[in-house]
Amino acid sequence: MMRRCFYSLLALIAAFALMNQAGSAQQFTKSTNIERGRTLYTDVGCYECHGYSGQGAPGAGPALAPDPIAAAAFRDRVRTPRALMPAYSAVILPDNQLDDIYAYVASIPPGRAPDRIPLLTVPGAQPAPVRPANVAAGKVIYATYCAACHGANREGQIGSPLQTQEIKRSLQSTIELVKTPPPGMTKLYPAVLSDMDVENVAAYVRQSR
Ligand code: HEC
Ligand code: HEC
Repeated sequence: MMRRCFYSLLALIAAFALMNQAGSAQQFTKSTNIERGRTLYTDVGCYECHGYSGQGAPGAGPALAPDPIAAAAFRDRVRTPRALMPAYSAVILPDNQLDDIYAYVASIPPGRAPDRIPLLTVPGAQPAPVRPANVAAGKVIYATYCAACHGANREGQIGSPLQTQEIKRSLQSTIELVKTPPPGMTKLYPAVLSDMDVENVAAYVRQSR
């Protein structure tokens, strides 16, 4: 009798030990990281500029998903942003939390909702320009990198107004100008903007009123 009791107690202890092990192992699975990252992404405020599902927001921040940049580059951009994004130090956002955010962003599947297609969210987008996707992409680039100096509506601030000249300027000369900027204008190519980015932003500047 005593013996049976002892053995069932042992079995019980073993069962508990197993359950605990399973429980703690689970905390390190990928899905837990993704869930934590999803919460952090909202709490820390990434969504404010990059959209709830990383789709990007015109005038605020570029798309982060789907297919985010490599983890190391991602971390680097958050610690040392290239232009208008506020920097997040390890004090505000420790490495492990940043890794969770990356896990979340990397988990976002492509093409979830219509709001993920930038063109549909651009207010006043031209109905049928020659290359609609490029102009829409250019608008986002403009808002991100150029608006601070040239004004939200290209009315000019530190940089010259771009509303008046764009009609006479050829696409090619705007591209050249962005690639080889005049004094006072930030050189964004090729470190920040790719050839395609420059073409897109030039298309936007030229075609818009
Ligand atoms: C106030 C707006 C704002 C907030 C908040 C913000 N970002 Fe950004 N982010 C930007 C802008 C603008 C850029 C474009 C480059 C730059 O300014 O550094 C950018 C660029 C990036 C890039 C580089 C993308 C690329 O393809 O090169 C990453 C990665 C990124 N942000 C991640 C984050 C994460 C993660 C958070 C939250 C911890 C966050 N951002 C919060 C505005 C923001
Ligand atoms: C740091 C501020 C700054 C940023 C950022 C900036 N620019 Fe400029 N931009 C200037 C200044 C300053 C000039 C020269 C004004 C002058 O010499 O009259 C200029 C000139 C120009 C011109 C020539 C205008 C003319 O009348 O000849 C174009 C086009 C232009 N910028 C486009 C852009 C685009 C597109 C971007 C974003 C990719 C951009 N700029 C980013 C400051 C800036």
